[in-house]
Parts: sequence; structure tokens; C-alpha cells
Amino acid sequence: MTSQIEGSVDTSTLDTNNANTAQMNEQRLLELGDKYSFRGRIDRKVGVGPIFVRGRGTEVVDMQDKTYLDFNSGQMCAALGHNHPRIVQAIHEACETLIHGHSSFYNVKEVELATRIAELLPDPLSKTLFGESGADANEFAMSVARLYTGGRDIYAPLTSFHGVSVGTRSVTFAGWRRGHGGLPSDGKAMFAPYCYRCPLSKTFPSCKLACLDASFELIDGQSAEQPAAVITEPLFSAGGVIDPPPGWLRRLAELCAARDMLLIVDEEQTGLGKLGSMFGFEDEGVVPDIVTLAKHFGGGVGVSAMTTSPIIEEVVVEAGMTVTHSHSNDPLICAAGIASLDIVAEENVPEVARALGERMLQHLHELAERYELIGDIRGRGQLTGVELVTNRDTREPANEAGKALGDACLKAGLIFSVRRDGSVIRFVPPSSTTLDQIDQAMEIFARELEVVSGATRSE
Ligand SMILES: Cc1ncc(COP(=O)(O)O)c(C=O)c1O
Repeated sequence: MTSQIEGSVDTSTLDTNNANTAQMNEQRLLELGDKYSFRGRIDRKVGVGPIFVRGRGTEVVDMQDKTYLDFNSGQMCAALGHNHPRIVQAIHEACETLIHGHSSFYNVKEVELATRIAELLPDPLSKTLFGESGADANEFAMSVARLYTGGRDIYAPLTSFHGVSVGTRSVTFAGWRRGHGGLPSDGKAMFAPYCYRCPLSKTFPSCKLACLDASFELIDGQSAEQPAAVITEPLFSAGGVIDPPPGWLRRLAELCAARDMLLIVDEEQTGLGKLGSMFGFEDEGVVPDIVTLAKHFGGGVGVSAMTTSPIIEEVVVEAGMTVTHSHSNDPLICAAGIASLDIVAEENVPEVARALGERMLQHLHELAERYELIGDIRGRGQLTGVELVTNRDTREPANEAGKALGDACLKAGLIFSVRRDGSVIRFVPPSSTTLDQIDQAMEIFARELEVVSGATRSE
């Protein structure tokens, strides 16, 4: 079919073997992208290359046939590997049976997936509602918490990211708020357990989790009515790969329970094996009231889940909660969800994640001995972060160095994201990554770090 858009490029006929043609095609697509695609993206505002064409496992290939190691797992959603054959097969089968379902009736794939999630999560978390994005699932969770408690205020640590829909942006404090005024005022912030930059200038463990006591003093003091919930990630990914100290989540659960507030744990980035355990909250011996899943759940297909207990579900359904979106329980996305759970189990993703994380940390700690720029190294499993500083004593964030490193590594064939305005490098290699690929990526990183460190030294 000929496109109605003047000058459009038919990507199926691209001659990627011819470097000049490919370059021209890419340039043309970039121009069209700038003209027709909305450009407000989370990492870049301006349409610049590369433009990706295909991917498999840990590698993605651009229009000029250049191959990259994708240590960002796409937008973290390909953390089980790009185009995993099991996902491809599940989608294919759904296309042969039923793609879309009536959202007021159960369908086979929806019930199968809900059952699998109930088997995976601890009791009593067994009632699941599906959505298409991470923000959807968190919106559902916030609605459930409000209806169940009768309260409105939902608190989140200052390093949080829960989505950029209106409701979830109101509890996203790691950034991406400015200019989006008119956010609901019942999304409220609490101190973050960011030990490298403690907001109270204390040190763990002698602080005795003072950030939580201070937060709840504020919550208690300002609440004119029953507060509804705290929503938190077990490890803050977009906020800068910030791992709370041991005991933080457990104490948070106790403080919420003492006030009849619900605890929503957003496992969208951290769940299903990525941190080396099935869920991030596991290590703390906590059972949240609500858990949300998204990102690599679905293996790259947009599906998310909000799971709570039968008691909570009963109360909110009786109270009249009506949910589901047009595509909420589509067999196609649920089939991808089932396939992703199969991959996590069959490929023992938690164990793989631990091995990948260990190898990355080993490299990064060696680099920290050589480069003053590395101020802190943190993370668990596949989710690893490096905080860059201009001076290890003052800990001044090295924002420009981080941005320069991101650009240089991209050119050299390694993709990752930078957070906290450039000062934190975040690596999320898919579980398909081999230890050799980790070594290759760290070699690229080390090479570019040498260049950027030299430039920083001579400034
Ligand atoms: C922890 C967390 N929650 C929620 C979201 C929002 O997910 P989505 O972009 O699918 O709406 C993200 C996205 O990065 C996330 O990292």
C-alpha cells in the first residue's frame, strides 16, 4: 500500500547493505519523525538517531546495520531479551485464536494468567486486574487504596517513578513534573532512603531509619483525614538506582499498618527475577497490600497487572469500583504475560540476574579504583547503577560527565540510560546477556570513561 504521507520511506525495501542508501534513508526518516512524531520523550527531546530496525536477545540493529548491546533493555521492557521466541510464539498463537476479548467476560488466557500470578505471589495476594501499561496498574492500585481506606492522600518517596499519567505523575517525584501543573494534590512526597545523599545528613545504620520517622511525623501532622497509602518501588530505578537500606521496607510496612494505610509495592521494574529474587520485597519479609507488575512482564508486549487480596477486592467491588480498559484482558497481551512467566521460570531468571549483576559489579569496582569520577556503585541483579561525582569528598554530581559518557558509549555501540540529570549511569542488560557481552560492554564503558575522566581532569 502506498503511504499517504508525502515522501515517506517504505522500511521493507530498505537496502541496509548499502551504507550510503541506509544513511540517506535514516536521514529522511529522522526528518519525517521530527515533522510527524511527538518528540517529548523521557530521555531525549529532539529526534536524533539511531533508528532501530530489529533486535534479538541483547542486541539491536539500526538502519545502518550497526549492532548495539542494549543495556537499557529497550525501555526496560525487553529485560528477558528482545523478540524472545517464546513471546513470538505466544503472540502468533493468539493471532490464530483470539486477539481481543470482551472485557466484561473472562477469557481463557486472562484466567490462566491471573492464576499463574496468584501462584507466584505470597498469600493473600491473589486477585489480579490487568492493564496495558505500568501507569495503568498503578492507577488501579491507587484507586483501590482510596476506595478501601476511604482516604485520599497517597505518599511516595522523593526518588519515586510510577508513571506519567495524571494520577501516577502526582506520585512521581524523581522528575518529569515541571510544566505539568494541575496534578492532583493528594499525591504527596516523603523522604527517600537515599543513603549516599541522606536528606537528613545521617549515616546508616546509626540513623535508625530516621528518614521514615521524619516522613511519618509529617504524614501524621498534615493529615486532615485517613491517609490512603504509600506507594514505593523496592529499589528506585528511574530515581537513580537507589537501593534502600536493609529494614527500610519492613519498617515502612509496619508504619503503614499502624495507621491503616495500604502499602503498594510497584514491582514493575524490579519484579519477576530482575533483582536476583522473584520480587524486590521478598528480601524484607514483607507482604504488601497491593503489588503491580509491568515492563518485562509480557516480554516487550504492553501488559501490566495489579494484584491485591480477596478481602480488599471484595470491599472495593462492593463499593462500586468499575475498572478495565478496552484492552485490559485481551488474550493477546495475556498470552504474552504467560509466556514471560514461563521464561522467568524455565530460564531461572533470578539466578541469571545475580550472575550478570556480579560480573558488572566486579568490573565497576575495578574501575572505581582507577577513576575518581565513580562515587558510588549500587544495585541488585540486572539493575546496576554508577553515581558519578566531580569530587569524592564533596560528592558534587558529575552531570555533564554522565551525559558525555552516555553519548560516547552510544556511538561506540553500547546503550544505557543516564538518570539524575546525568550523574547516574543505569545498566539494565536483558537476561539473555552472556558474561562475554557483559565484558564487552564494560570494556566500551571503561574506554569512554578514560576519555571523559581525562576531559574532567583537565577542566
Ligand atoms: C517503577 C515504575 N513504575 C511505573 C512505570 C510506568 O510504566 P509505563 O511507562 O509502562 O506506564 C515505570 C516506567 O518506567 C517504572 O519504572
